[in-house]
Amino acid sequence: MEDREGFVSILGYKQYYRAVGPEDASATIVTLHGGPGSSHHYLLSLRDLTRWGYRVIFFDQLGCGSSEIPPTTDQFSLEHNVEETEAIRQELGRGKVHLIGSSYGGLLALAYAIKYQQHLRSLVTVGGLADVPFAAAEMDRLIDELPPEDAKAIRVHGDRGELQHPDYVRATQRFYHSYVCRLPTWPVELTRSLQLGDERPVYRYMNGPNEFTITGTIRDIDLRPQLATIRVPTLVLGGKYDEVTPAVADLIHAGIPGSRRVTFPESSHTPFWEERDAFMSTVASFLTGVDRGTDPGSTRT
Ligand code: ALA
Repeated sequence: MEDREGFVSILGYKQYYRAVGPEDASATIVTLHGGPGSSHHYLLSLRDLTRWGYRVIFFDQLGCGSSEIPPTTDQFSLEHNVEETEAIRQELGRGKVHLIGSSYGGLLALAYAIKYQQHLRSLVTVGGLADVPFAAAEMDRLIDELPPEDAKAIRVHGDRGELQHPDYVRATQRFYHSYVCRLPTWPVELTRSLQLGDERPVYRYMNGPNEFTITGTIRDIDLRPQLATIRVPTLVLGGKYDEVTPAVADLIHAGIPGSRRVTFPESSHTPFWEERDAFMSTVASFLTGVDRGTDPGSTRT
């Protein structure tokens, strides 16, 4: 199986990509990472989908991972990420693609579909969100479900801006191990993406200082009014313990006519690691159903 990585020039910037699976695959999957500001690494388990004959494309969004960091923050926006995704599809996608977006990548996938759904075979969101203020309020509620000393540390030190305080850092780690990835040992790919997020300016600029403090530029985005325009077969996924809670996924599902909804019962934000086999078979059965025309939603395009 050919595994290719390199850089492509996207809207004037050098962006990193990795393509796995057969070059002559009959369908391509483009994957979108979250953060915003993270990197493609934590999605690499999705290479499992090559087992069903797919070619899978990963890329680092502008300013993320190995992609170029522009001199100003002007291009760090959902709108720019949508155009990057379209440019990546044109460069590497070979026609209509399946789009899988995780977390902010899910929001991006929805925004892409709202503008460019004619280029999609299907759309999958995992831990995705359409209404950022609602997702942030849900995360805030999850803080109160932590052990009381952790909830208190996040509230007290968070209010004082003491984000490096050891109690705040410890409580943040507990939040992440409850609602981001529940595996006792984290995949190195996930750790790498989180580290890169911390090192690059995009994460703080667009998201905020950590997962549950969304104070960056995406904070007011709400795509719910436009969801009903999405007519491609859509699968809405998430974990039962997801920091982007099941209620947030339910809103996407309710907004997109005919969409499917699956929750992974042992997972939080990374079911593609936490319940890897179940996740891959769920996604593969959806994608192959769409490709064979046996998915009821596939007649809607
Ligand atoms: N910070 C969330 C993500 O991972 C929204 O994209």
